[in-house]
Amino acid sequence: MSLTYRYIGHATHVFGINGATVLVDPFFTSNPVTDVSADDVDANYILLTHGHFDHIEDTVAIAHRTGAKVIANFEIVNWLKAQGVPEEQTHPQHIGGGFHHEFGYLKLTIAFHGSSLPDGSYGGMPAGILIDTKDDRRIYIAGDTSLFSDMQLYRGAELFIVPIGDNFTMGPDDALQAVKHVAPKDVVPCHYNTWAPIEQNGKAWAERVAREVPDTNVHPLSPGGILELI
Ligand code: NI
Ligand code: MN
Repeated sequence: MSLTYRYIGHATHVFGINGATVLVDPFFTSNPVTDVSADDVDANYILLTHGHFDHIEDTVAIAHRTGAKVIANFEIVNWLKAQGVPEEQTHPQHIGGGFHHEFGYLKLTIAFHGSSLPDGSYGGMPAGILIDTKDDRRIYIAGDTSLFSDMQLYRGAELFIVPIGDNFTMGPDDALQAVKHVAPKDVVPCHYNTWAPIEQNGKAWAERVAREVPDTNVHPLSPGGILELI
């Protein structure tokens, strides 16, 4: 059993979960912090937190090339089908609902944000993603969201992916509180240093987490950074 994590940059993540490649929020083409091309990415699954372009941009192209199954809320799945993603490559879910996929049990959680699609279509509610792998390891991807106290319900996640950029999502102070709520074994900050309004010092934030939540390991990865979770 294995769990690996690769931070592409911004809010794009690649997980290796017991042999399955799970790509979250594929944003490559207009992403200023990665040189990785959407043409070179592998995926068995593509998970989407919401419909904003910096999360969904390369979904259709990667789904077509790889045959990956796309998991997202009902509204986003309908939109993707209208963009030509075959129905059998889609799996709609919604907030609070879980489903046993090959890589584990995936539930969409609440997130406080927007979710309009790139053409202005309604994208349903934004989501976070909770994954319980088949070997009982919990991953919590907060998605784009403000801080909310129900994050305490996801306490005990092994790996927590949290935005720290401020302006569009939680900033460093609220993200620190989120880490206190979730008390994960490992945390990775994201959704910062992509554009000027979300510039943050990841290392300084990591030092605060290390000081105030000493049981959590904090990993301020640079784009391309990899975490091997034993
Ligand atoms: Ni967003
Ligand atoms: Mn975003």
